[in-house]
Amino acid sequence: MLNFNQRIIAPSLLAADWSKLADECEHAIDSGADWLHLDVMDGHFVNNISFGPNFVKHVHQIVPNAFLDTHLMIERPDKYIHQFIKSGSSNITIHVEPDYEIEETISEIKKSGITAGIAVNPETSIESVRPYLDYVDILLIMTVTPGFGGQKFMIDETMPKVKEAKEIREQNNLSFHIQVDGGICSRTAKISASYGANIMVAGTGTFRAPNMKSAIDEIRNA
Ligand code: DX5
Ligand code: ZN
Repeated sequence: MLNFNQRIIAPSLLAADWSKLADECEHAIDSGADWLHLDVMDGHFVNNISFGPNFVKHVHQIVPNAFLDTHLMIERPDKYIHQFIKSGSSNITIHVEPDYEIEETISEIKKSGITAGIAVNPETSIESVRPYLDYVDILLIMTVTPGFGGQKFMIDETMPKVKEAKEIREQNNLSFHIQVDGGICSRTAKISASYGANIMVAGTGTFRAPNMKSAIDEIRNA
C-alpha cells in the first residue's frame, strides 16, 4: 500500500450515469481517479439496493486496469466475498456492524491476494473495530449514514474518530490507511486530511461536478 500522506481519490460509481457506464468509468480514470469506489447495497444493512457482483464484473471488463474499491454495505458479506473477488475487486471493505465472522471474512479476503478494509458508520466507535485494525489495509470511517449519495458531511461525529484511529495506528505501528466516505468535496477533504485521512471517496463531488478533472484535482490538493 502507498504511504499515509499520498492522497488517493476514489470516485463512487453510485453517482455516475449508469446509462453510459463505460463512458463514465473511462472519464473518471481519464480525469485522474486513482480508484473507482463501488457501493454495494442489499436493502437490509442499508435502506437502499444498488448492484451486485455482475455490475462489478462489468466495470472490471470496461476498465480492466482500474483499482476497484468494493464497499459492501450488506448484512452478510461473508456469503458474498468470493463472488466480488471473482468479479475483479481490488479491495473489499466490509462493515463491523452486522453479525457474522468478521475476522474470518477479513482473512478470506486477504488470502485471495487483494486488500481488505473494515468500515464503521458514524455512530459506531473506533473501539468496536480495534481488534481488526492489526489485520486490515483500510479503515473506512463513514462520514454520512450509509445508503445514499449527496448527503451532508457529518463532521462532529466523525472527525474525532479519524484522529483516534490515527493515534492508534501510530502508537501501535499499524499499517492501515484511513478512508472517508460521504459528503467529500475539496472543503471536507481538507478537514478529513487534517485529522489523518488519506483516501477520499467522492460521488456527487466528482461525477456531478461541472468538471470532473478539476474536482478530483481540488480534492487531491485540498
Ligand atoms: C454511501 C456510500 C458513499 C456515497 C458517497 O452509502 O458509501 O460512497 O456513494 O456519495 P457522496 O460523495 O455523494 O456523499
Ligand atoms: Zn461507499
